[in-house]
Amino acid sequence: MRREQALNKACSLLREQAKEESLAKFLLMYLLDETTIEFNSKFFEKLDEEIIDTYFKLISTHINEDTPLSHLVGFEIFYDRKFSVTKDVLSPRMETEELVYEVIKYIKNNKLNNLKILDLCTGSGAIAITLKKELEQLNVNTEIVASDISFEALNIAKKNAENNLANINFIKSDIFDNINCKFDLIISNPPYISKDEKNDIQKNVLNYDPHIALFAEENGLYFYRNIIENAKKYLQNDNSLIFFEIGYKQGNDIKKISIKNNFNIEIKKDINGKDRIAILKIN
Ligand SMILES: C[S@@+](CC[C@H](N)C(=O)[O-])C[C@H]1O[C@@H](n2cnc3c(N)ncnc32)[C@H](O)[C@@H]1O
Repeated sequence: MRREQALNKACSLLREQAKEESLAKFLLMYLLDETTIEFNSKFFEKLDEEIIDTYFKLISTHINEDTPLSHLVGFEIFYDRKFSVTKDVLSPRMETEELVYEVIKYIKNNKLNNLKILDLCTGSGAIAITLKKELEQLNVNTEIVASDISFEALNIAKKNAENNLANINFIKSDIFDNINCKFDLIISNPPYISKDEKNDIQKNVLNYDPHIALFAEENGLYFYRNIIENAKKYLQNDNSLIFFEIGYKQGNDIKKISIKNNFNIEIKKDINGKDRIAILKIN
């Protein structure tokens, strides 16, 4: 069977079950371990029997069990790099790429260098590792600490750091509990979904992303309140910043918490026009 035929067949199987057809292309491309350019240039080549077999088994798994692409192949692409994912880490999302983009833009615009950065709630390590690699390319020197409460998540993050040749200091910590130094920037994409919203969450998120990575007390605001209330002890000086990814309905509540704790706050929207990033500076 040629690639084009396998793709057409997979698309039609997905279409019949009202599933997103783009998965067919990415799944095959990832199984073949090719870039988009390589993949597109070999569109009419024949596939090995073994690949065809694995490919259609995984298409069936996706159809029958709603398994996301990242869990079919065991990795997610984030900022053009490969990150291993398992049941112990959140598959990094596109919205978080926008958070990383904002941090890098801020560093570039302000010509910052020699930065100590903390990634709180690091999960797969996607934020910490991407910042290390992207800033290295811009000749920005960084010392990056990444922490998480989950031992299992930290093991995946360490593997991702090794695979991406990123030198990161990983610490197991319940928020700031084991953090003992000060930072120029604190970045965090903490759990932020209210437990009351559990029934509204898509099944493939509930079944494959760890709940410890998704849900937070206090209507989803627990981590923002805790981090904002304690952050001053961990920020180098008045120019130090906190960058958060936030839930799209949480902007106003996070503004209130910030003002109460003497932080100025700017909320930025994502590409879908929804509140997504909060930038806090000591008032
Ligand atoms: C939304 S995920 C973010 C993962 C990653 N930073 C990303 O953006 O893809 C939140 C992470 O917070 C971690 N976490 C949950 N409770 C925590 C706590 N009390 N202290 C530190 N990390 C915690 C979870 O283990 C999970 O890895």
